[in-house]
Amino acid sequence: MYFLDRRPRRQITQALRDSVLEDLPEITEITHSELRAKCVEAWAYALAESSFERVRDLPGEANPGTFRLRRGSQVEHLRGVTRIALAIADDFAARFPEARIERDLVLAGGLLHDVGKPWEFDPANCARWEADPSRAGLPSLRHPAYGAHICLAVGLPEEVMHIALSHSAEGELLTRSLEGLIVQRADHLWWSIAGGCGLLEESGNAILAERRITPRALASQETQS
Ligand SMILES: [Fe+2]
Repeated sequence: MYFLDRRPRRQITQALRDSVLEDLPEITEITHSELRAKCVEAWAYALAESSFERVRDLPGEANPGTFRLRRGSQVEHLRGVTRIALAIADDFAARFPEARIERDLVLAGGLLHDVGKPWEFDPANCARWEADPSRAGLPSLRHPAYGAHICLAVGLPEEVMHIALSHSAEGELLTRSLEGLIVQRADHLWWSIAGGCGLLEESGNAILAERRITPRALASQETQS
């Protein structure tokens, strides 16, 4: 048996918190000070329980082995989803002032929806699960559920915990909040558009084909620089 309280755990240092802000600078846009601080704390807590040093060390993948970016890390995904989700929220708010979307929740939810990935992507965890899926499953817990645990552990609002829990298939069992719906659609859209742009490795092509998306060839290296 693998007792979870015996996992190796690093100290949460100010340097770790600072690295979270460096990797996810949109956190500073959250206007509610406690929410802002707890967003940093959630990522620091999740990283400290994993083998990953900082957010940008997490691979740019949707799930382990599924939809892997050719270049870039999880930071590109988290920041992109957050900006897209904010664009949706801001566009509706600008044209329909009577629509009541909580911008801080969209921001926090976008930046934290994948806060459970340090657990699901941790090489030590993956090796244990793959060695014998009959023992604790493969994985034992996906990142949406682990992300909800992190949000609860650091005392984030229920609304943010719900976004982390419901942004993927787990949310199909629930009725999503409005901010959760925005983040879930932005997240799904981000991977689809990344695939359409040809930014994902070929291993994702079968799933793209199910979505009727054909990857376009990338520009040559000279055009990119
Ligand atoms: Fe995501």
